[in-house]
Amino acid sequence: MICFQNRSRGVRKALKYKRMNSLINCRRCATALTFALSVTVTTFTEGNTIEVENAAVSSRSLLASEAGVAVLRNGGNAVDAAVTTAFALAVTYPSAGNLGGGGFAVIRLPGGEVFANDHRERAPLNATRDMFLDERGEYVAERALRSHLSSGVPGSVAGLLAIHERFGVLPREAVIAPAIEFAREGFELPADIARQFESRHEWFQYIDSTRKAFYKSDGSFYRAGELFKQPDLAATLSRISEHGRDGFYTGQTAELIVAEMSRGAGLISKSDLEEYQPVWREPIHGRYRGYDVHSMPPPSSGGVLVVQLLNMLEPFELSELGFHTAPSMHLMIEAERRSYADRAVHLGDPDFYPVPLETLLSKRYARSRIEDIGATATTSDGVAAGSVPKEPFETTHFSVIDTDGMAVAFTTTINGGYGSGIVVEGAGFLLNNEMDDFSAKPGTPNMFGLIGGEANAIEPGKRMLSSMSPTIVSKGGEFILITGSPGGSTIITTTLQVILNVIDHGFELEEAVNAPRFHHQWQPNSVRFEAGIKQSVIDELEAMGHVNLNQMSERFGIGDANSILKHRDSITATSDGRNEGGAAGF
Ligand code: DON
Repeated sequence: MICFQNRSRGVRKALKYKRMNSLINCRRCATALTFALSVTVTTFTEGNTIEVENAAVSSRSLLASEAGVAVLRNGGNAVDAAVTTAFALAVTYPSAGNLGGGGFAVIRLPGGEVFANDHRERAPLNATRDMFLDERGEYVAERALRSHLSSGVPGSVAGLLAIHERFGVLPREAVIAPAIEFAREGFELPADIARQFESRHEWFQYIDSTRKAFYKSDGSFYRAGELFKQPDLAATLSRISEHGRDGFYTGQTAELIVAEMSRGAGLISKSDLEEYQPVWREPIHGRYRGYDVHSMPPPSSGGVLVVQLLNMLEPFELSELGFHTAPSMHLMIEAERRSYADRAVHLGDPDFYPVPLETLLSKRYARSRIEDIGATATTSDGVAAGSVPKEPFETTHFSVIDTDGMAVAFTTTINGGYGSGIVVEGAGFLLNNEMDDFSAKPGTPNMFGLIGGEANAIEPGKRMLSSMSPTIVSKGGEFILITGSPGGSTIITTTLQVILNVIDHGFELEEAVNAPRFHHQWQPNSVRFEAGIKQSVIDELEAMGHVNLNQMSERFGIGDANSILKHRDSITATSDGRNEGGAAGF
């Protein structure tokens, strides 16, 4: 087995687990449910990659994964665990875990039925098409990314509660309790989060509420390992625990959000909050080499593109062409060029724009799209210079499986790392900057270099197009793989590569997730790749006519695919080795 990155941190994590155990034991839960763990520490496994028999959670925060697993051990199902993990991530992984953002969940019941929950943010009712353009009609990035205007109406809380109400078996208070505990009692700040706070000081120091949330009262930094508490966030979570959606979308939390908006000329109003509803949508379904692939439908482009890409690649023998060879990478890049071009024109919120789903997902259409792929590269029209992001973007994906085989793929986001950077004063959570996912101006790239037009133009109440691709692969009625990723436009190609690595290249999960990745998205006409792809392969691709092949700096990886794989009777859970995080299970 090739091991690309091996970051076993067993001992340190065992210590963290003990702390989690005591947190769970001391929890003052409003219900009769007791969280005391009756099992011995030795049967509990955690790490970057774990192999277990029964159930697992893989996420970007080991504490959040452990909280999810504790719920599984105490009678909760995969949905209870997913809701617990998501609320916990809002506390332990503040750059992307959230109450003030939105996300998507794909849920597969043990019997094979699949559901998709869309709790994507919506444009406020007072949003206007040109709100991010200046008087000369130019896109103003600062306004779209770092202002009160950049926030869509948050959907996460409504979505999590809807999912829980439909499929969960534990009381609401029980699944929110770990997050409240982490926020109220604090948790030891991981080194990477301490670094994130420090490196964003230039930005956050001028926003009073954000400065108060992420720095000590004397303005100094929290150090790694210090206890980090978020009392305002704990109070918001408690209101949600007590009152359900009314604890967020009406009453005190809603008032705090609206007051925050008025401080910064933002648009989210009381009626925006009251009217927000998550939507159950028909999941995207595709077939690839005998496997069933279920993923997120629009307003995400993720599921459509993952299935479209698989359809385009199915006629080729990728396993024979080999992993990371120039011929196999060439085919993937060409397929990506075509599907991302479709994304820019055809995809948007289906409640506002007629997305031609049937065609985009058909094998016949996929075949027609690949007809002109030859031995050399085609070009993307109107080539633009490749812009490589300077900051790691942050959304977060986690995967859950329970003892009965109920599976949840969940991706959630406030868009950029720390979203708009604006913490709601008194409520302790960050607001998203998801409005930038709309096409603010046709043909002008957003922060991920993605372009779009009419289908994804801003309209009041519309959901902005996403790339998030929570995906569940199954075969013969049994789930095989749960995957997905953050990474803006690279989410789709990351998800694709994990699937191909498992199905076509037969990799173990750890290799499938940690293998170097590459990314192409039609415009700009460039290929980004991680270290580890041979220079001779890159030279060959250049000789085929591929242009602007850029190796990314070691500091910036592509994606963070916290995934779970079933193999015969055992379950492997891997948290992506590119980042801190952890899988837990039993
Ligand atoms: O919904 C989307 O596609 C983006 N807002 C996701 C942002 C993202 O993945 C940033 N982080 N890695």
